[in-house]
Amino acid sequence: KGDPRLQAITKAITVVPHFPKKGIMFQDITTLLLDHKAFKDTIDIFVDRYRDMHISVVAGIEARGFLFGPSIALGIGAKFVPLRKPRKLPGEVFSEKYSLEYGTDCLELHVDAVQPGERAIVIDDLVATGGTLSAGVKLLERAHAEVVECACVIGVPDVKGQCRLIGKPLYVLVEPR
Ligand code: PRP
Repeated sequence: KGDPRLQAITKAITVVPHFPKKGIMFQDITTLLLDHKAFKDTIDIFVDRYRDMHISVVAGIEARGFLFGPSIALGIGAKFVPLRKPRKLPGEVFSEKYSLEYGTDCLELHVDAVQPGERAIVIDDLVATGGTLSAGVKLLERAHAEVVECACVIGVPDVKGQCRLIGKPLYVLVEPR
């Protein structure tokens, strides 16, 4: 965590108070994507962590997990598997509902995208309650993949609570401001 690149990554993420509604400090990663060095450092840190862990599946969560997952997958020589919102995937799917602050949402995985025993990581931009990542973990486990870790660019300090919810190790680069 003494990595000097992390400071620049934190600074490249824009904090927008009261978006999309009052009281929310929105973590806008679009400015991280505009900053070539910070974006590349972000990908490199994940690639360095996972390249020798025999990971064959990088599963990214719609929508913002799609911005980081494919580059990591290419960097470590794994396939990229999208975990999508309902009714977007044309093939046979596993579905997992999860709860949000208000109401529920759902993620889907193509049943043929992952083979039993494959080693996977699940990637998203941000973890808050951990509900979204746990749905991702459950989907991969229904395909009998082994989820090695969940990874996010931004995570709240209460990592312990999140790990318990997700049931897997959680790796986050920076804290929200
Ligand atoms: C955000 C974020 C994570 C999730 C984290 O996505 O990109 O996927 O919330 O929250 P949690 O840890 O409490 O589950 P959002 O639901 O806004 O969907 P979107 O990326 O499709 O806009």
